[in-house]
Amino acid sequence: GTVFVLNGPNLNLLGTREPEIYGSDTLADIERALHEQAGTLGLDISFHQTNHEGQLVDWLHEASRQGAKAVLLNAAAYTHTSIALLDAIKAIEVPVIEVHLSDPTKREEFRHVSYVGMGAADCVQGLGARSYSVALEKAAAL
Ligand code: DQA
Repeated sequence: GTVFVLNGPNLNLLGTREPEIYGSDTLADIERALHEQAGTLGLDISFHQTNHEGQLVDWLHEASRQGAKAVLLNAAAYTHTSIALLDAIKAIEVPVIEVHLSDPTKREEFRHVSYVGMGAADCVQGLGARSYSVALEKAAAL
Protein backbone atom coordinates (compact mmCIF):
# COMPACT_ATOMS: atom_id res chain seq x y z
CA GLY A 1 0.00 0.00 0.00
CA THR A 2 0.88 3.65 -0.38
CA VAL A 3 1.13 6.09 2.51
CA PHE A 4 0.76 9.76 1.59
CA VAL A 5 2.91 12.09 3.72
CA LEU A 6 1.58 15.65 3.45
CA ASN A 7 3.41 18.65 4.87
CA GLY A 8 2.03 22.16 5.19
CA PRO A 9 3.36 25.71 5.32
CA ASN A 10 6.92 26.60 6.29
CA LEU A 11 8.00 22.97 6.62
CA ASN A 12 10.12 23.47 3.49
CA LEU A 13 12.33 25.59 5.78
CA LEU A 14 13.03 22.79 8.27
CA GLY A 15 16.68 22.62 9.24
CA THR A 16 17.03 26.39 9.59
CA ARG A 17 13.55 27.26 10.87
CA GLU A 18 13.58 27.71 14.68
CA PRO A 19 15.87 24.66 15.14
CA GLU A 20 15.51 24.91 18.93
CA ILE A 21 11.84 23.97 18.41
CA TYR A 22 11.87 21.86 15.24
CA GLY A 23 15.36 20.32 15.24
CA SER A 24 18.09 20.43 12.61
CA ASP A 25 16.81 17.74 10.22
CA THR A 26 15.63 19.09 6.87
CA LEU A 27 12.42 17.92 5.22
CA ALA A 28 14.60 16.11 2.67
CA ASP A 29 16.30 14.25 5.56
CA ILE A 30 12.88 13.23 6.90
CA GLU A 31 11.73 12.13 3.44
CA ARG A 32 14.86 10.00 2.94
CA ALA A 33 14.49 8.30 6.33
CA LEU A 34 10.81 7.58 5.69
CA HIS A 35 11.53 6.05 2.29
CA GLU A 36 14.08 3.73 3.92
CA GLN A 37 11.70 2.78 6.73
CA ALA A 38 8.84 2.27 4.25
CA GLY A 39 11.01 -0.21 2.35
CA THR A 40 11.45 -2.35 5.45
CA LEU A 41 7.68 -2.18 6.08
CA GLY A 42 6.75 -3.08 2.50
CA LEU A 43 5.06 0.29 1.93
CA ASP A 44 5.37 3.02 -0.69
CA ILE A 45 5.58 6.67 0.27
CA SER A 46 4.10 9.60 -1.65
CA PHE A 47 5.74 12.63 -0.02
CA HIS A 48 4.63 16.25 -0.56
CA GLN A 49 5.01 19.76 0.88
CA THR A 50 3.05 22.92 0.11
CA ASN A 51 2.52 26.36 1.59
CA HIS A 52 -1.06 26.45 0.29
CA GLU A 53 -4.11 25.22 2.19
CA GLY A 54 -6.17 24.16 -0.86
CA GLN A 55 -3.29 22.05 -2.16
CA LEU A 56 -3.45 19.99 1.04
CA VAL A 57 -7.20 19.53 0.46
CA ASP A 58 -6.51 18.39 -3.13
CA TRP A 59 -3.88 15.89 -1.97
CA LEU A 60 -6.25 14.43 0.65
CA HIS A 61 -8.76 13.85 -2.16
CA GLU A 62 -6.00 12.36 -4.31
CA ALA A 63 -4.99 9.96 -1.52
CA SER A 64 -8.59 8.79 -1.40
CA ARG A 65 -8.88 8.43 -5.20
CA GLN A 66 -5.71 6.33 -5.22
CA GLY A 67 -6.94 4.14 -2.36
CA ALA A 68 -4.00 5.05 -0.13
CA LYS A 69 -3.48 2.96 3.00
CA ALA A 70 -3.11 6.05 5.21
CA VAL A 71 -2.14 9.71 5.23
CA LEU A 72 0.43 11.21 7.60
CA LEU A 73 -0.53 14.88 7.82
CA ASN A 74 1.60 17.64 9.32
CA ALA A 75 -0.65 20.56 8.40
CA ALA A 76 1.64 22.94 10.35
CA ALA A 77 -0.20 26.19 11.21
CA TYR A 78 -3.30 25.14 9.21
CA THR A 79 -3.77 22.49 11.92
CA HIS A 80 -5.06 25.24 14.18
CA THR A 81 -7.21 27.14 11.67
CA SER A 82 -8.50 24.96 8.88
CA ILE A 83 -12.08 23.73 8.87
CA ALA A 84 -11.52 22.93 5.18
CA LEU A 85 -8.87 20.37 6.14
CA LEU A 86 -11.11 18.88 8.83
CA ASP A 87 -13.94 18.56 6.30
CA ALA A 88 -11.61 16.91 3.77
CA ILE A 89 -10.39 14.42 6.39
CA LYS A 90 -14.01 13.59 7.23
CA ALA A 91 -14.93 13.31 3.55
CA ILE A 92 -12.45 10.52 2.81
CA GLU A 93 -12.26 6.97 4.12
CA VAL A 94 -8.46 6.87 4.26
CA PRO A 95 -7.28 7.10 7.88
CA VAL A 96 -5.31 10.27 8.62
CA ILE A 97 -2.60 10.33 11.29
CA GLU A 98 -1.81 13.83 12.58
CA VAL A 99 1.92 14.51 12.93
CA HIS A 100 3.88 17.32 14.60
CA LEU A 101 7.57 17.72 15.33
CA SER A 102 6.87 19.83 18.41
CA ASP A 103 4.10 19.29 20.96
CA PRO A 104 1.63 22.09 20.18
CA THR A 105 -0.25 21.48 23.45
CA LYS A 106 2.85 22.63 25.37
CA ARG A 107 3.21 25.85 23.33
CA GLU A 108 1.14 29.01 22.84
CA GLU A 109 -2.57 28.77 23.58
CA PHE A 110 -3.50 29.37 19.92
CA ARG A 111 -1.82 26.04 19.06
CA HIS A 112 -3.91 24.09 21.56
CA VAL A 113 -6.88 23.63 19.22
CA SER A 114 -6.39 21.14 16.39
CA TYR A 115 -9.07 20.97 13.69
CA VAL A 116 -7.04 18.19 12.06
CA GLY A 117 -7.19 16.26 15.33
CA MET A 118 -11.00 16.39 15.31
CA GLY A 119 -10.98 14.12 12.25
CA ALA A 120 -7.72 12.22 12.56
CA ALA A 121 -7.52 8.56 13.54
CA ASP A 122 -4.38 9.11 15.61
CA CYS A 123 -1.73 11.69 16.49
CA VAL A 124 2.04 11.59 17.04
CA GLN A 125 3.70 14.78 18.25
CA GLY A 126 6.60 16.14 20.26
CA LEU A 127 9.21 13.60 19.10
CA GLY A 128 10.95 15.78 16.51
CA ALA A 129 11.64 14.00 13.22
CA ARG A 130 10.91 10.71 14.99
CA SER A 131 7.21 11.71 15.09
CA TYR A 132 7.08 10.84 11.38
CA SER A 133 8.66 7.41 11.81
CA VAL A 134 6.42 6.49 14.76
CA ALA A 135 3.42 7.63 12.70
CA LEU A 136 4.57 5.44 9.78
CA GLU A 137 4.77 2.45 12.13
CA LYS A 138 1.21 3.19 13.23
CA ALA A 139 0.12 3.46 9.58
CA ALA A 140 1.77 0.09 8.82
CA ALA A 141 -0.17 -1.50 11.69
CA LEU A 142 -3.58 -0.24 10.48
C1 DQA B 1 4.03 22.04 13.71
C2 DQA B 1 3.36 22.74 14.90
C3 DQA B 1 2.47 23.89 14.44
O1 DQA B 1 1.89 24.53 15.56
C4 DQA B 1 3.31 24.91 13.68
O2 DQA B 1 2.47 25.93 13.16
C5 DQA B 1 4.15 24.32 12.62
C6 DQA B 1 4.80 23.02 12.84
C7 DQA B 1 5.04 20.95 14.17
O3 DQA B 1 5.37 20.09 13.36
O4 DQA B 1 5.50 20.98 15.31
O5 DQA B 1 4.38 24.94 11.57
O6 DQA B 1 3.02 21.41 12.93
